[in-house]
Amino acid sequence: MAAPFLQIDGVAMRYGGVEGTLALSGTSLDVAEGEFVAVVGPSGCGKSTLMRLVTGLWPPTEGTVIVDGREVAGPLSIAGMAFQNPTLLPWRSILDNVMLPLEVVQPHRRELRAKRGSYERHARALLRLVGLEGFEAKFPWQLSGGMQQRASLCRALVHDPRLLMLDEPFGALDVFTREDLWDVLQDVWLAKKPTVVLVTHDLKEAVYLSDRVLIMSARPGRIIAERRVPYPRPRRLDLTYEAGFQAIVHELRDRISDARRAVEASDAP
Ligand SMILES: Nc1ncnc2c1ncn2[C@@H]1O[C@H](COP(=O)(O)OP(=O)(O)OP(=O)(O)O)[C@@H](O)[C@H]1O
Ligand SMILES: [Mg+2]
Repeated sequence: MAAPFLQIDGVAMRYGGVEGTLALSGTSLDVAEGEFVAVVGPSGCGKSTLMRLVTGLWPPTEGTVIVDGREVAGPLSIAGMAFQNPTLLPWRSILDNVMLPLEVVQPHRRELRAKRGSYERHARALLRLVGLEGFEAKFPWQLSGGMQQRASLCRALVHDPRLLMLDEPFGALDVFTREDLWDVLQDVWLAKKPTVVLVTHDLKEAVYLSDRVLIMSARPGRIIAERRVPYPRPRRLDLTYEAGFQAIVHELRDRISDARRAVEASDAP
């Protein structure tokens, strides 16, 4: 069997030195190339921390992160990332923010001058797909939080990354927009088959989009259980009303409340 595309092995992360917060401990997980996994778990359990370690924004305190056969030792350029809080550059227009990875990541950077026209059409098409047509020339501060989040998603996708790391990318959206964007993301995945790690608090979203849902314990976080999602794709929203689908969502909810209760018990005097 081929080696996993993403391998996290025995990772621990402590912020702020030996006395600091232990965010992750003994975290291990494998993700196959082209697989879509969702990560769910109680607030503060270390999900965003895990995303930062995989994308090389911080080194782990212990353990290793391997992407595509190589240990991650610095910011990972093959990854497309969208963070929990949109991180658009305030001095660049929405279109220029979305095009940023094309200016930074090879081979696009090399080809940008020759292909600017087609790259720009691609960026505009993505913005249209997420409902931001007409906002290309605006600046981030002229957009609502949810609109900024949608622009961040376009920026994560624009260079067709082989690894997509999405940290609650739909958190600030109303339910209708969110469901539209599930299908945008599903279509991108079907067309390009990137490896995706999606952090979410929305269990319906996790089940609808992923091949496998990973459940984290309360802090210090580690993966304590997983649930395969059997439905073929393309999936349609009607699926979310079926009894089998809802049973999976309930099962996940129960496991997460067990994880939260375990913590409350251990916090007791
Ligand atoms: N930069 C930081 N410095 C110090 N502690 C941090 C830092 N970032 C996160 N932490 C701590 O690490 C723990 C895990 O945080 P993290 O943001 O990874 O959780 P999370 O699972 O993403 O939570 P949420 O679901 O609320 O987004 C928390 O206790 C948090 O206070
Ligand atoms: Mg988080």
